[in-house]
Order: sequence, then C-alpha cells, then structure tokens
Amino acid sequence: MLAVLPEELRPQAARRLAANEPVLRRLLAGLYGGQADFEGWLGGLMASLGALYAARPAELRALDERRAAQPDWFLSQRMLGYCAYVQNFGGDLNGVAARIPYLQEMGVSYLHLLPFLRARAGENDGGFAVSSFDDVEPSLGTNADLVSLTGQLRAAGISLCSDFILNHVADDHAWAIAAKTGDAAARAMFLVYPDREMPDRYERTLGQVFPQVAPGNFVQVDAMGGWVWSTFYPYQWDLNYANPAVFAEMAATMLRLANRGIEVFRLDSTAFLWKREGTNSMNQPEAHQILQALRAIVDIVAPGVLLKAEAIVPTKELPAYLGSADARECHIAYHSSLMAASWLALSEQGTSALREVIRNTPELPPAATWLSYVRCHDDIGWNVLRAEAGADGGDANARLARASRFFAGAEGSYAVGAAFQSTDPNAAHGSNGSAASLAGLEAANTEQERELAMRRLLLLHGLALSFGALPVLYMGDELAMENDYSYLHRPQHAMDSRWLQRPVLDRARWKSRDYAGGGGGRMYQSLLRLLQVRRQHDALAANAPRTLLADAPDGMLALARGERFVTLMNFSGQPQTYALQGQWTDCLDGGILDGAVTLEPYAMHWLERGATA
Ligand code: GLC
Repeated sequence: MLAVLPEELRPQAARRLAANEPVLRRLLAGLYGGQADFEGWLGGLMASLGALYAARPAELRALDERRAAQPDWFLSQRMLGYCAYVQNFGGDLNGVAARIPYLQEMGVSYLHLLPFLRARAGENDGGFAVSSFDDVEPSLGTNADLVSLTGQLRAAGISLCSDFILNHVADDHAWAIAAKTGDAAARAMFLVYPDREMPDRYERTLGQVFPQVAPGNFVQVDAMGGWVWSTFYPYQWDLNYANPAVFAEMAATMLRLANRGIEVFRLDSTAFLWKREGTNSMNQPEAHQILQALRAIVDIVAPGVLLKAEAIVPTKELPAYLGSADARECHIAYHSSLMAASWLALSEQGTSALREVIRNTPELPPAATWLSYVRCHDDIGWNVLRAEAGADGGDANARLARASRFFAGAEGSYAVGAAFQSTDPNAAHGSNGSAASLAGLEAANTEQERELAMRRLLLLHGLALSFGALPVLYMGDELAMENDYSYLHRPQHAMDSRWLQRPVLDRARWKSRDYAGGGGGRMYQSLLRLLQVRRQHDALAANAPRTLLADAPDGMLALARGERFVTLMNFSGQPQTYALQGQWTDCLDGGILDGAVTLEPYAMHWLERGATA
C-alpha cells in the first residue's frame, strides 16, 4: 500500500497501518484465509486501498486528521441528524443544497439522504435496489452535483450520510447483467443454486422480510439457470460475502463514495451479510467480522468517516454492531428497540417494556453511540421487542400484535396507520404511518384532541433528544405532516404501505412554520425549543451518564442524565405524579419545581437541578 502512495503521505499512512493493519489482516485471514492465493488477494486489496488513499481530496484528508485526533467528535449534544428523501425534500441534489439554511435553522449537523445512487428502473424499493454505486441517480442530479452538495454541506458544518447498500444489488447492476450472460466471475458475486435443494434447506430456518409481496428468500431466474438468494424484493440480489472479490469490490466502492465527500455511511441491512444453514442467517459472527474489517479500512484510509449500522434486530443483538474497546466495529447503530418501545409505551399508556429496553441497553465502548429516532422511512418493527414484551411472563406476541392493531386504528385508538405486510390478524406486523398520524393528529376533531396528539408527538421527540444518542429527525415530522396516501395511485408503490410516511415536504406548512398557530408551526416551534435547550446542556451528550429512575409510576418514564439533569415523561392519558428531591428548574418553560410534581397527560419536563432561571 505504501508503495502506491506519494512520498508525503507515507509517514501518516505508515502510522495508521501500524495501528490497524494487524487487525485487518487477522479479520480477513479469518474470513478468506482458506482461499487459494490469499496473500496475493490481500496484496491486491491493499494496493487498491493505497490508490484510493492517494486519490482522497486534500480537504477530506485534513478532516480525517482532525477527527482522528478527536475520535468522539460526534457524541456532542450539539450533533443533530435529519433524514430525508432527496426528491421529497429538495426535488434533486441542488434543491437539497438550497435547503441548507433550513437545516441550519434547526441546528442540523448531519444529513442522511435516503438512496440517491442510480437505481433500478421501475420498482426499486425507494432506491434500495442500486444499479450503480458510482453514479448519482440521473433524475436527482449528477456526480458533480453530489461533490458540490457535500462541499456546501461541509462548509455549513453538516456531514452528509449516504446509504451504502452492501447486502445486495439490483438485478440490473453490471454484475447481475454479466452473470446473466454467463460470466463466471460475475455469477460468483451472488448466491445461486441450480435447484431447490439448498434453498429449501435454508428456508427451514429463515425469516421473511416482505412475506406478503415478496415471499421466500430466493428468486428463480432463468438466465441464471437456477435460484438466486434475494432476502428482500426479488430484484434485490444478495451479495456473496464468502467470495473475497465481493468484499474487495465493496470496500473500494465505499471509499470511492467517501472520496466524493460522503462522511457517514448507513450500512444497510448489515444483519444479513453472512448466511449459515440452520440459522436465520442474521447477526452471524462473520457479518461482524466483515464490518470490523470495513472499519479497519476506514481507520486506515479515511478516519474522518463514520460507519452506521442499520440492524433491525432484538435489543440483545444490537451492542455487537458497536464493537468493543478492542474490536472496533460501527460508530453508530440504530436503537430500533428504543424507538419501537416508545410507541408501544404510548399505545399501552405504560412504560414497562420501554424500561426493560433501557435496562437491556448496555454502556458503549468509547467513541460509539446509539442513533435515536421517532420515525424513519421504514415500518415500526415490533418483533425486535419480543424479549422485552415477554419479560413479565405474558404472551409477547399477543402484546405486540395489540400494538400493531392499535397503530392501524383498531382497539379504540387515536392512531391512523397501517399494518405492514399483514395477512394474519394475530401476527405482530410492523406499523406504518407518519409520526403525527400515529400520534393522533390526523384523527383529531377537537382542539383538545389536537393538543393531546401534539403532546404525544413532542413526547417521543423529547425521549429521542434526551436519551443520550445521536438523534435523527425524519423529514416532515418537524412540521407534524400527516400520512400521504398518494402512493396508492402509483402502481410501483401501491403494495408497500411504507410510502404512507414518505411524503413530499409540504411547502405551505414549511412556509408558515414561524406561526405557532397552525399545526405545523406549533410542532416546529416547540421542537425548536427542545433542540435549543438540548444544545445548551452537555448532560444530554450521547456519552454523558444515564440512569433510569425506578421510583416513577408505570405511566411515566424518568431518566437522570448525570447528577443535575432529569427528564420526566408521561406516556399516559392520566396525570402522573413524581416526587422530586430538592429544587429544579424546567428548562423548557423556566418554571421552578420543588417536591411533588404532577404531569398532565403526555406532558414532559426537562429539569435542571437548582433554581437557575
Ligand atoms: C433497509 C431499508 C429498507 C429496505 C431494505 C432493503 O432495511 O431501510 O427501506 O427496504 O433495507 O434494502
């Protein structure tokens, strides 16, 4: 690797290699050491990394150095994420650049743009079926627009996060096209079986992501002479990470994107990277080794870059994605259990499962954090909560299925949403719908109902913002945007109710966001206040200590952040009382509280010790 670098970069590269190469070599030898000419392959990989190191723009290399010197830079309470589809937020990449002032108004420092690379024509799972990782989707802009956008964002103090869909490619990606014409090397990038024997054996223990519209995990492809592994939609072909060529190609692909200025990669569907017969082929040890190897590569070539794991898995499987002090993996991981449990708490008006999730959330290694969120582009998956929902000895499935029905509007609910991929009324299917509609705003008829819905929406945001994580807002939620039903008229989307929560930014709400009178403005102004208070309190940093206060009533969640900060959140429709020790100031409204405090339905307090106002 050093040989391909220019003289002036060698001392720095030599230092990073000394720190990370032994780990990388060990991981790759574990995964691929049994392959013929492993050493030759590894040499080729390192040379390709060297070329990408040399090609890294000077500005990004400077960023790498600054961040390597302060590896916990992203744990500050001043970090705030925002997530949007390019087409819905700005129309195209240049339109997103035009919205930078809006992001700055909220204090956003991290922008996750959902897939914007060239996607399969026709159905493409919202861009999650990628045809080319090296080209921007033409309808969204050009590669030059991307470089320009990353530069403008960086100048505004905002890191661009891009999905890196490393588990699968579209069936019209160059590798798939070559494989279909009989190219053996391209075919080896995928998992292909001549008949049903192996697929049937695997299926015995595999789950299903889209059981209704994409049943099974294999698709029969005549041009491939057999069955191709496709965990998600049939046009998303899983990559074969047992083939070292896949690893080398994908590592280089990620670094090429990093060299265009992408600072954070959302590693999509990481749980599925390695398959093993007799298991559900999720969270396998090799999947973690692959991620750790990618981390070592980033630490060598682009240490300013962050890796974020998207693994929607049970709470106990989550921490592994953040590695440990001596086995670094991703920097950030979605806390999908916390998110789902906060909605479950609303539906039950009780916090027992939410508390269980928090108790099951361990301390993290240094320079790693959870990602907290209220909603995202996907469904709220209930199954990640099986352990917590059954912790009281009850029927976890029945409990989660009730939540699923609640958010589909049944059970006397205020929510307007849809069960995802639901055929079985007793199963705990995921829930779709915008945060505002699920919180009751769409169904609200009276001012009082609107007020309660708004409180619920703020409450969930309050938890995400105060938990101690990197919080990410989902576009539209800041303006309390409701469900979007237009997908029902688009044939390529009509069968996938996740489009309910993927609206185009409502310009009218956006324009009137300063007027607290309207629905959008009311949410926006209240949220801005939370964001502002959060920035001021380092007790709310991702790595500041967090303690669950066990003496709160079941309808309420009480979290201490260090010695001087407490959040009280009422998840129920009844007033809840909590006995404070000493005097506290409500950071949101300046009120002074002392002794017993009663929270109105769905109300929240962010309290700082003492009378500081
Ligand atoms: C992730 C995405 C989801 C997509 C899937 C397949 O879970 O968040 O939207 O359908 O991966 O790429």
